[in-house]
Amino acid sequence: MYDKILTSLSYGMFALGAKGESYPNACIVNTVIQISSYPMTVAVSVNHSNYTNECIKKSGYFTVSVFSENTSGAVIGALGFNSGRDGNKLNNVKHKILTEGAPVIQENICCWFLCRVVNAVETVTHTIFIAEPVAGSETIKGVPMTYDFYRQVIKGKSPKFAPTYLPEKEEEVQKYTCAICKYEYGDSLVPFEELPESWICPICGAPKSVFRKSE
Ligand SMILES: Cc1cc2nc3c(=O)[nH]c(=O)nc-3n(C[C@H](O)[C@H](O)[C@H](O)COP(=O)(O)O)c2cc1C
Repeated sequence: MYDKILTSLSYGMFALGAKGESYPNACIVNTVIQISSYPMTVAVSVNHSNYTNECIKKSGYFTVSVFSENTSGAVIGALGFNSGRDGNKLNNVKHKILTEGAPVIQENICCWFLCRVVNAVETVTHTIFIAEPVAGSETIKGVPMTYDFYRQVIKGKSPKFAPTYLPEKEEEVQKYTCAICKYEYGDSLVPFEELPESWICPICGAPKSVFRKSE
């Protein structure tokens, strides 16, 4: 299915930083892309449940720290699997704080840049922040870490809120069947329970409420 095909896409590995309520926050993302050169524009996809999403919306700025192959997996562990809502994740990660309140990681990164948000597009689960880089490091040091390197060399995993998350075992995904046309929903990255109430069966157009748990 499409979710398997999409594992062939290539990405980088980044820390996405923003000013938090009481302390700076950062999470791991693999979804930073360049949209255009003139004007210079980038985009990043951030799950609605991630505290970083709220921090970016409130402050209007975010930093991107581009990881190198020498960036420790421990930094990814510290920032990518816990929420800044539960405490300052940067306590044990070397960083500096910019005047906009956003942190830049200082543990063997390739480079960094600061972005000002110019637009935000909402999807069912993620916000796509579109932004213009307004400052950044002068040089690039080392080899940028790719998502593939993270998976194949560091043997890292992706947690639930990463766009590239795939459940380990397919049978863990509860499937739901349309009572009208028998279409079965269940192989998407979005669990049935998280679909909006306005969602309709893609085959017969029946409302979400007629779906029943598959046996
Ligand atoms: C390899 C990797 C890639 C990730 N990519 C993304 C991403 O692109 N977007 C996203 O919203 N979360 C992504 N995550 C998940 C967040 O980093 C994670 O949910 C984090 O705990 C959020 O922290 P926060 O609540 O402090 O924002 C990724 C995590 C890992 C380990």
